[in-house]
Amino acid sequence: MEGVDFALLNTVTRPEVFEFEGISMVHYFTDNWEKVQNFQARPDDILVATYPKAGTTWVSYILDLLYFGNIADERQASMPIFMRVPFLESIFPGLPSGVDLVDNLPTTPRLIKTHLPVQLVPKSFWEQNCKVVYVARNAKDNAVSYFHFERMNKGQPEPGDWNNFLQNFMEGKKVFGPWYDHVCGYWEKKQTYSNLHYMFFEDMVEDSRCEVERLCSFLGLSTPLEERERITECTHFDKMKENKMTNYSTVPTMDFKISPFMRKGKVGDWKNHFTVAQNEQFDEHYKQRMQNTSLQFRTEI
Ligand code: A3P
Repeated sequence: MEGVDFALLNTVTRPEVFEFEGISMVHYFTDNWEKVQNFQARPDDILVATYPKAGTTWVSYILDLLYFGNIADERQASMPIFMRVPFLESIFPGLPSGVDLVDNLPTTPRLIKTHLPVQLVPKSFWEQNCKVVYVARNAKDNAVSYFHFERMNKGQPEPGDWNNFLQNFMEGKKVFGPWYDHVCGYWEKKQTYSNLHYMFFEDMVEDSRCEVERLCSFLGLSTPLEERERITECTHFDKMKENKMTNYSTVPTMDFKISPFMRKGKVGDWKNHFTVAQNEQFDEHYKQRMQNTSLQFRTEI
């Protein structure tokens, strides 16, 4: 992989969490802060924003195929999705920073990934009226997915055991801050910023064809039905799990023996993790945290 120093990337160690700009963070997402905040977006940039583990890679790959799927170059076959859709605020040893990767993208539009909560998104995205695609996932499945991700990825802090993780998740102590504020923040932004498309992981699982169509209509793309069908197929969980360019198998900080990146891709897996007591406590806390929003999630389909 061009631009990647695997030996250096292998030196990544589990970071400590600290308070930064009002949220929990680790240094891999703050060390390049000045450049991130001063990032100059272009009007045709497309920002894919999510809370971690909400379906970022899935939607990134759909977008990549919608724009560049027909380009017959090596890109699709040799460039992993995290190089094609750079993670803006990231700065890991052995990898170019997210900002540098974006600045060197040869394609237009540039597809850019962020996990930053809405208030920390570099202001040039709003000034340039960039299109923003936000993907949200119900809190319970999102927490489960995040827990397994922290277990397998040494670029993330130690998750502790499941109960410990869940308490921290509820208290908003996970990297990128509280899930509740993240999903609600973008939901509120959408009320005044019309270039934001708010999607749900659950809708994608239920009917990805329809979600691809809705994405096209938001993006102003007239992708033919046949091509949309092909993209829907290529981005199916099983296909993405097999595809080395989308399954993160090239990243040495991740240990798939502990848990694969493409883990289950389901709605409702939380039922295999939450005890009855955890579920009751979670529901009660959720009600309080989400009482002032019209945003609704499905925890099963
Ligand atoms: P699980 O851990 O529940 O399996 P992100 O890309 O934001 O890190 O999100 C990763 C989550 O999205 C993982 O969830 C992963 O399996 C799921 N995912 C990725 N691609 C998917 C697809 N094509 N269909 C269903 N789920 C997918």
